[in-house]
Amino acid sequence: MIDQAIRQMDFSYVPYSRFRVGAALLAKNGKLYTGCNIENAAYTPTNCAERTAFFKAVSEGVTEFDGICVVGGKDGVLTDYASPCGVCRQVMMEFCDPDEFQIILAKSRQEYKIYTLRELLPQGFGPADLA
Ligand code: THU
Repeated sequence: MIDQAIRQMDFSYVPYSRFRVGAALLAKNGKLYTGCNIENAAYTPTNCAERTAFFKAVSEGVTEFDGICVVGGKDGVLTDYASPCGVCRQVMMEFCDPDEFQIILAKSRQEYKIYTLRELLPQGFGPADLA
């Protein structure tokens, strides 16, 4: 997953920030859905790498996931961990069990940290709250 996420940064469309982000999302069916960030001249339509991966999967009828790997850095250089933004955490909350879904933040194949969604989005609001 780390390799796939790193590879995705090649496709990042980032003429404004030059900050490349790659994601690899593992579905429960075993398939890996990749994503990159896609920026826009009007700024707000920008889509994060994580959401690109989620929306690719959901648009193909896949809505159950085990985990996601995220990497990112200026010009694709992984000097630090790239942590999902609040909007992406909320999208994860829609489809994932917060105590089971794992978020892997990586700087290399050897350097990574794993969090549950609950750890990154405590007290999150999700579908169960509307049931
Ligand atoms: N970005 C992501 O792709 N994922 C995140 O979770 C944080 C931010 C992107 C959006 C934008 O293209 C660039 O990083 C700088 O914010």
